Amino acid sequence: MTIEAKPRHSVGKAMKRKEDPRFLQGKGNYVDDLKFPGMLYLSLVRSPYPHAAIKNIDISEALKVQGVTAVITGKDLEAAGLGWLPTFHGFDKQMVLAIGKVLFQYQEVAAVFAESRAAAEDGAEAVQVDYEPLPVVADPFLSKTDQVLLRPDRDSKTNHIFHWEVGNKDGTEQALGSSAKKIKQRIWFQRCHPAPLEPCGCVAFFDTMGRLQFHVTSQAPHVYRTALALVTGIAEDKIHVVSPDLGGGFGNKVPVYPGYVCAIVGALKIGRPVKWIETRTENLTSTGFARDYHMDVEIGATPDGRVTALHVATTADHGAFDAAADPSKYPAGIFGIVTGSYDFPVAHAEVDAYFTNKAPGGIAYRCSFRVTEASYAIERGMDILADELGMDAVELRQKNFIRKDQFPYPSALGFTYDSGDYHNTLGVALEKIGYKALLKEQAERRAKGELMGIGFSTFTEVVGAGPSKHFDILGIKMFDSAEIRIHPTGAGIVRTGAKSQGQGHETTWAQIVAEELGLDPQTIMVEEGDTDTAPYGLGTYASRSTPVAGAAITMAARRIREKAKKIAAHLLEVGEGDVEWVDYKFQVKGVPAKTVTMKEVAFAAYTNMSTNEPGLEATYYYDPPNMTYPCGAYVAVVDIDRETGEVKVRRFLAVDDCGVVINPMIVEGQIHGGLTEGFAMAYMQEIQYDAEGNHLNTNFTDYLVPTSAETPRWETANTVTPSPHHPMGAKGVGESPNVGSPAAFVNAVIDALSPLGVRHLDMPVNRDKVWRAIRDAEAGKTGAAVFA
Ligand code: CDP
Repeated sequence: MTIEAKPRHSVGKAMKRKEDPRFLQGKGNYVDDLKFPGMLYLSLVRSPYPHAAIKNIDISEALKVQGVTAVITGKDLEAAGLGWLPTFHGFDKQMVLAIGKVLFQYQEVAAVFAESRAAAEDGAEAVQVDYEPLPVVADPFLSKTDQVLLRPDRDSKTNHIFHWEVGNKDGTEQALGSSAKKIKQRIWFQRCHPAPLEPCGCVAFFDTMGRLQFHVTSQAPHVYRTALALVTGIAEDKIHVVSPDLGGGFGNKVPVYPGYVCAIVGALKIGRPVKWIETRTENLTSTGFARDYHMDVEIGATPDGRVTALHVATTADHGAFDAAADPSKYPAGIFGIVTGSYDFPVAHAEVDAYFTNKAPGGIAYRCSFRVTEASYAIERGMDILADELGMDAVELRQKNFIRKDQFPYPSALGFTYDSGDYHNTLGVALEKIGYKALLKEQAERRAKGELMGIGFSTFTEVVGAGPSKHFDILGIKMFDSAEIRIHPTGAGIVRTGAKSQGQGHETTWAQIVAEELGLDPQTIMVEEGDTDTAPYGLGTYASRSTPVAGAAITMAARRIREKAKKIAAHLLEVGEGDVEWVDYKFQVKGVPAKTVTMKEVAFAAYTNMSTNEPGLEATYYYDPPNMTYPCGAYVAVVDIDRETGEVKVRRFLAVDDCGVVINPMIVEGQIHGGLTEGFAMAYMQEIQYDAEGNHLNTNFTDYLVPTSAETPRWETANTVTPSPHHPMGAKGVGESPNVGSPAAFVNAVIDALSPLGVRHLDMPVNRDKVWRAIRDAEAGKTGAAVFA
């Protein structure tokens, strides 16, 4: 972040800010480091009220602040036809700047442009807004009553946003009704935030050719370009979106935020570059949150533990606008994966979403659109069922796993799982963790009154959206693309429609090209995020890069190999049919001594050695025939201090199966990172609002991010069940540990507390909650106090 050394503002607040390390948190970020001549800084005025009518906005004092150039309000944007943004899955629209009223605390109310960031912030403080508080609805169950209508701007006069359901309602009801055993539990996946270390930001300007140059922290730059063209009316060729190196995204950088629109409007109206960089507080309070699903989970079973039916009814808190970044046909994302790894004969899932006076969002935080919620629901549900049946949670899982010979497996909720060997993956986990010995130790400790828990999560998830006939964003099909150019000397460049945010595409994409073409991966450059050069793609989220863009790279490389084969035949002076690809070289069939390398072919392709069409490049747009279904068996072993409630993770083992692994080190890194996030959600994190709608965690002292001091040591292993339809047999992996681990952490805590009669606690299962559960149990209040 660049702050002017000499604040021009006399009060000296600017200097104080400069010295305050909280204001330096963006430093070192790529967008934040961008500087352009004459650049202005944008600061947003935000509402202190969660729900209030705006009586008046007085910008006169702000305009007097030295360095302030302009102030715009919602009314200005409305007059320009830019008052509202379409939300990604098209069911709603979102105010750019408040029009008439505010709907959540920290909502954007006015935009102040100034010569320095400090001046912009001083200007924002000087904007006077008269609010008239309105009744607040901070609870989706209260919202359901429609006593206070939050969105009178909508045609439907209710707070209910949508009802979505899938599966066999009547069949499930009947099966549950006739099941000998049944559990029912409300399970809340609390509101969380992806909180990437680099917050969101952008720089917008119109160049001398009148083109919008938009540098932005985006996980989906091409979708931004199209969305901007549709919303602003600027021709798409006059928009250049550049998403540079990102300091994490995790779904937080998929939506288009009001700050971006204001920066573009400012650049257009004032005619100068405008930079907007969020503070940590702005990131936590107003950009896409995750989860906030209240899930009523019912599972039926036979007395010997075979599952008979699953019903999940969810109340979803979507905040003030329905800004969830979900595919249009799936308002609840891919929640239908909620049957998990288990062979349910019948199931029914439904989701009802409601507006509340909270920040909008519902983004796919390191997951495929609500897969994490689904995975948590079923993995907690199976443990509760095991408890009900008095059965070992592992045995229950093994008994109900979809068997290897059932793949491709059609699930009761309409998915076709591509492949998996769940018994094997869990088997590896049991052996590595030494389950039998742990059970023995646990029994001994329990006899002494000690609280030791072993928690499992044997999840299946679904990654790699498309297929495009089912999945789209704003109507744009969910395919992805790759373009490969091999230069005359055998070096090359690969560009894709994906966008790395630290997942290492730069390494793995080069590996794929090298593997397919027999070239040195060190000489393959990878470029993503520039809409002028990269082929159109839907971006990176939901672990879709390897299943979709990775497949596109493979297919483009194979196209190159096809052309290269013709050139090789010419060089080897044989017919094309006599050439084969053996051991990373072209070889005359049956004559191992007569070979030509891809490097030699590349040179020939650009010189007069070949008579073929010059050049060696290919593009491929890949529309996956199905998604991929990675799975995992995770085990957490915890010890709980009975006096303090402190949970110590003694061991955590993650056995993942993401099909063929391209780069084991990157995959391991992905798993370490995701487990750390899962650990944080399970034990520490919750975006909290009080009943008046005040946002209680506005920085990292309230919203906790684990450091190396708290983070357990991770043990990892893997099994390989290739995807039958992916050209490399690979499945995605980035989100697996975030999706699969929360249940293992929580199951371990509940297992530890189960001798006290505790059956469920909602996340975050922090020390206070565990301490309270233990004390209540000791006082004989277990059921009432700790059941959700
Ligand atoms: O979409 P995103 O990049 O977040 O997720 P991904 O496709 O799961 O890939 C994350 C990283 O792991 C990428 O660098 C992948 O190429 C790598 N990966 C791998 O090496 N082998 C796999 N089977 C899956 C992913």
